[in-house]
Amino acid sequence: MDITILEPIAEKVLDKIRRQSRNPIDRAKLAKDLKISEDELNAGLDILKSWGYSMKINPGGQVVYESAPDRLITPEITNKLKTKIIGHEVHAYKTVQSTNTVAHQLAASGAPEGTLVVAESQTKGRGRLGRMWHSPENCGIYFSLILRPKIHPTRAPGISLISAIAVAETIAGCNDFKIGIKWPNDVLLSGRKVAGILTELSAELDRVNFIVVGIGINVNHKRADFPAELKETATSIRIDGKTKIKRVDFLQKLLYNFEKEYIIFKKSGLEKSRKKILKYSSLLYTDVDLRMGRKTISGKVIDIDKLGQLVIETSEGIMRFNAGEVTTR
Ligand code: BTN
Repeated sequence: MDITILEPIAEKVLDKIRRQSRNPIDRAKLAKDLKISEDELNAGLDILKSWGYSMKINPGGQVVYESAPDRLITPEITNKLKTKIIGHEVHAYKTVQSTNTVAHQLAASGAPEGTLVVAESQTKGRGRLGRMWHSPENCGIYFSLILRPKIHPTRAPGISLISAIAVAETIAGCNDFKIGIKWPNDVLLSGRKVAGILTELSAELDRVNFIVVGIGINVNHKRADFPAELKETATSIRIDGKTKIKRVDFLQKLLYNFEKEYIIFKKSGLEKSRKKILKYSSLLYTDVDLRMGRKTISGKVIDIDKLGQLVIETSEGIMRFNAGEVTTR
């Protein structure tokens, strides 16, 4: 049987048996209720098992639903998702080169606002400034969102900051963690990088066509999952919190937190989010070097303004920056 026909059948079966919780359901009745043949039902159940769902067939031939896998697959991500638009269209992959690249292609061909592209691993995960994002299978969460805000392109960097707030708040909700946001788009856990954000823009001079915001989070990585060059600077929620995280739950909370910040941002820019940005900022009142291309500016960070710019007090006066690579001194 054709897999493109069977997958929707599997999702229908899942929807039904999940609602029965652990109560046994008669197979013939299940097939009849879903208006499918028993062969289709069996094929659907096999697909669900291959996706990692656990269920058993009891001696009377009834189906008993047991548990769901912690896999980033569409029926799990959308099950009881509390958002209004974010993550309602999902493109979930086992592996891709980069979810940002896939999201860019989907956006260019008209995918709606809120579309989520997620993968269990990336072979060419992209970071800022041409870096790679290490994306091993089953450890992290790697995803991109397609956004179509009606804003001026100069306000687009604000998307990185509200994404960082959403990530920081979701991680903070897992444990008693020490979270920081390192402007413009790194999230730190106990001073080490736990998440990164890559915001890419397609725009005309005066309007945004679409934005792809890509977020990578080190969730269940163990120390050994990081390559040598990241061992000192990176961490994961599991390493710091000493417990494994349910990635599907985490992603659903993150999408919810993101949507909350995004709605506020679309309405009133960064003004209302500034308090949170400053609360989490790891750079506020610290001495930094900010590198932009070949130029380096040194001074003390005194603010992040309502345009999301880093405000630095330098020997030549107060300066504002909307991009750059910051190191603390
Ligand atoms: C950075 O810290 O430099 C940004 C890292 C962004 C990584 C995420 S993972 C999901 C999405 N797809 C990519 O290729 N990159 C972003």
